[in-house]
Amino acid sequence: MEFDVKDQGLADKGRLRIEWAAQSMKVLRSIQERFAVEKPLAGVRIAACLHVTTETGMLAKTLKAGGADVRVCASNPLSTQDDVAASLVVNDQISVFAIKGEDKDTYYRHIHAALAHSPQITMDDGADLVSTLHSNRTELLPTIIGGTEETTTGVIRLRSMAETGVLRYPIVAVNDADTKHLFDNRYGTGQSTLDGIIRATNRLVAGSTFVISGYGWCGRGVAMRAAGMGAKVVITEVDPLRALEAVMDGYQVLPMETAARLGDFFCTLTGDIHVIRKDHFEVMKDGAIVCNSGHFNVELDLDALSALAVSRRPIREFVEEFQLADGRRIYVLGEGRLVNLAAAEGHPSSVMDMSFANQALCAEFLVVNAGRLESTVHGVPRDIDRMIARLKLASMGVVVDQLTAEQDKYLHSWQMGT
Ligand code: ADE
Repeated sequence: MEFDVKDQGLADKGRLRIEWAAQSMKVLRSIQERFAVEKPLAGVRIAACLHVTTETGMLAKTLKAGGADVRVCASNPLSTQDDVAASLVVNDQISVFAIKGEDKDTYYRHIHAALAHSPQITMDDGADLVSTLHSNRTELLPTIIGGTEETTTGVIRLRSMAETGVLRYPIVAVNDADTKHLFDNRYGTGQSTLDGIIRATNRLVAGSTFVISGYGWCGRGVAMRAAGMGAKVVITEVDPLRALEAVMDGYQVLPMETAARLGDFFCTLTGDIHVIRKDHFEVMKDGAIVCNSGHFNVELDLDALSALAVSRRPIREFVEEFQLADGRRIYVLGEGRLVNLAAAEGHPSSVMDMSFANQALCAEFLVVNAGRLESTVHGVPRDIDRMIARLKLASMGVVVDQLTAEQDKYLHSWQMGT
């Protein structure tokens, strides 16, 4: 079996951490139990490019229980949990190619290693696997049944591939399921981003000015949690509807040019490039803490910051100090990579339970529908989404009402008014 992990000696620690995650992943566990009996993925080769965390460990084990031949590689150079990678190799005989802190060359070498078994299904988080396939490994395309995509940034890239006629196989946008983005993006990113910032800095959030760029589901989640901890939250946005929503949610909305002077903490979650750039770094307060929780490390213009700096040094784990000519210091967390996975452990298992239940069931959906789907970006089937919501509620012991026959009839009639 091929693999590339940091240290197989970490496997026992990883196994315990995966076991801990499993306790909060009842929906995925129930799918794993069914998969173990029914083997819906028997012999299917899957390449999964995901953040290698305890929750991804649970997903990989579920796919394997369903009969799949799984290869896992990292979807970010800094998000791998080395003990999890080791445990999957040693305890589950799953090929993993991921090392926390790997350089760009190793990152792409690992993607190529995951593709080397000629996958029939790709599972992506950010679309680097799919874009590598479509640019460098096109000979592998004919045997691919389909793929899934975990995150907003990946879905945007894939839609652009579909619109320009480049996408060569069907992809299910797991991100767009309600049981994914309404929970993972909002509550998962909300909690894990604050967790990453606090673990990295141990600074007090209460009373601070916390600038959040982007008021999508992730930005909304971070704003909610920062406000809950007592910060004065400032939102920067480019979309008028989202900006309006932020205003009505009670936050101050400002252009970054103004917000840059006020913030104690800055966090970008826009999916776009250079959201915080030279002009903004130039006016920041001494001690400003800057990080990103969007998918790629492009949101902070760190080249501009290093050009402005007269010196830079790591000052704590995942914190780099940039000193400017006038003595002001700016602190960048996790090299501008997603702070929730670089400096903390990513989203809690309980939300990843729903995201990865979607992944597992969409892999099964792709196998059942092999050859029948158009080469474009598809939504998650509504029945899968609703079933996951029902299973999650049941796992939490929450009981909901049922429509009465009269109510059901009313909802299906157009004749009845007042
Ligand atoms: N993305 C965000 N949090 C994650 C986690 N815990 N596992 C995998 N992918 C993630």
